[in-house]
Amino acid sequence: MEKRTEIKQVIEDPQIGSTYRVMGWVKAFRSNRFIALNDGTTLKTLQVVVDYEAFDEELLKRIQFHASIAVTGQLVASQGAGQAIELIAEGIEILGDNDPEAYPLKPARQTMEFLRQKAHLRMRTNTFMAVFRIRHTLAFAIHQYFHERGYCYMHTPIITGSDAEGAGEMFRVSTLSPQTPPLTDDGAVDWKEDFFGHQTNLTVSGQLQAECGALALGKVYTFGPTFRAENSHTSRHLAEFWMIEPEVAFFDLFDDMELAQDFMQTIMRYVLEQCPDELEFLDKRIQQLEKNMKKEERRPMGLLETLRFVVDNDFERITYTDAVELIKRSKPYKKKRFKYLIDWGNDLQAEHERWLVEKHFKKPVIVYDYPKDIKAFYMRMNDDGKTVAAMDVLFPGIGEVIGGSQREERRDVLIQRMKEMDVSEEELWWYLELRQFGGAPHAGFGLGFGRLVSFITGMGNIRDVIPFPRAAGSADF
Ligand code: 4AD
Ligand code: MG
Repeated sequence: MEKRTEIKQVIEDPQIGSTYRVMGWVKAFRSNRFIALNDGTTLKTLQVVVDYEAFDEELLKRIQFHASIAVTGQLVASQGAGQAIELIAEGIEILGDNDPEAYPLKPARQTMEFLRQKAHLRMRTNTFMAVFRIRHTLAFAIHQYFHERGYCYMHTPIITGSDAEGAGEMFRVSTLSPQTPPLTDDGAVDWKEDFFGHQTNLTVSGQLQAECGALALGKVYTFGPTFRAENSHTSRHLAEFWMIEPEVAFFDLFDDMELAQDFMQTIMRYVLEQCPDELEFLDKRIQQLEKNMKKEERRPMGLLETLRFVVDNDFERITYTDAVELIKRSKPYKKKRFKYLIDWGNDLQAEHERWLVEKHFKKPVIVYDYPKDIKAFYMRMNDDGKTVAAMDVLFPGIGEVIGGSQREERRDVLIQRMKEMDVSEEELWWYLELRQFGGAPHAGFGLGFGRLVSFITGMGNIRDVIPFPRAAGSADF
């Protein structure tokens, strides 16, 4: 018996005249004669030619959409158009039957909402196969980028006692009974009795621990799951998402911006090189979807065109203060086309960010030096006493993909900020000690992996770029 060969290998290195054994799922069976076979190793299918007179009728009936089969046969140059090679079936075995009537997936296009309810099966569609191969390739590119530049991959804790962002959006981790928790004398839940001896939660960010690493190893990064109990029903928020957080000693905010741009462009270039079939497929998918849309609803550029543009052009840089001025002077603002007003000191709304990126600069934008009151306690205070050395990287169609900052390394200033923002010094004693014992300037950022994958694949909803999404109201599978 021939050994099994993956379909990707058959297609990429075809040995005409050789006998192959392949296994896969039937994507189509035309005219009782041509099987399109796919085994997941590539988006492409291998054409298997069946001489129906040579096979048992009962067997042929079982070659149904998405049945799993093994085929042995000789590889020949294809007679027909559309494929260069085909496999002439000599033996066919059914590995797993499928009943296409009962099977939720159909060969025709199905809505993303429907497929979300079938998350255990949706990875079998071309769209999701393309998305998840790109997701994998990006993850690999990220590790490679940092590894080649001497960064250490750091595993920061998933269970923690602190709220790094100070936003209070945390999932509690506890083994206490919800019905009868131990109580203190004054009737409150006695967290001292809990598993870790105090309150704990799932981490919202690995940054604070990554800072410890950066002040030892110089350059570190995290790449792990983070959790936020935000009740946001948007296409950009998940309750469980993966974040990449580099942290670098002796970096200031401008070094941080440079790293962010170089990092994003390098990993995107890698995906453009490694996943041409997947990207082309997704590009065409969007063109199809946009066929029935009005011009103003369509993307200004195709998917591949957008990616190449982002890879080849510098990101724009603008201070928050200048950005607010620009928005206030913009046509849509004067004509009251925005839903939200903007005043210095308020956070930019998604519509403002989109105008900056998509209409005004028409490229990724780094907004920096934000008002201190709308940013986290750890960001370094600027000399003006009003702004902090923060930056957000905004991408077209998505908005914020990266949030980062230079960190406050001056212990007294940091303590002052913690007091102002009601962050517990007692809990973060170890974080403060970093500033006491050989503290150094340092900076870093966090990239939301899901938002990056959404951008690169052109998928409109972040729930469709992670295999099993967790969001407010849904944690199935
Ligand atoms: O801007 P954020 O909150 O920054 C931090 O957590 C810092 N500690 C990062 C650092 O400096 N090391 O989050 C970083 C990024 C955002 O820009 C966004 O891309 C993503 O994480 N993000 C989310 N992605 C999906 N769902 C959510 N609910 C997200 N919240 C943030
Ligand atoms: Mg942010």
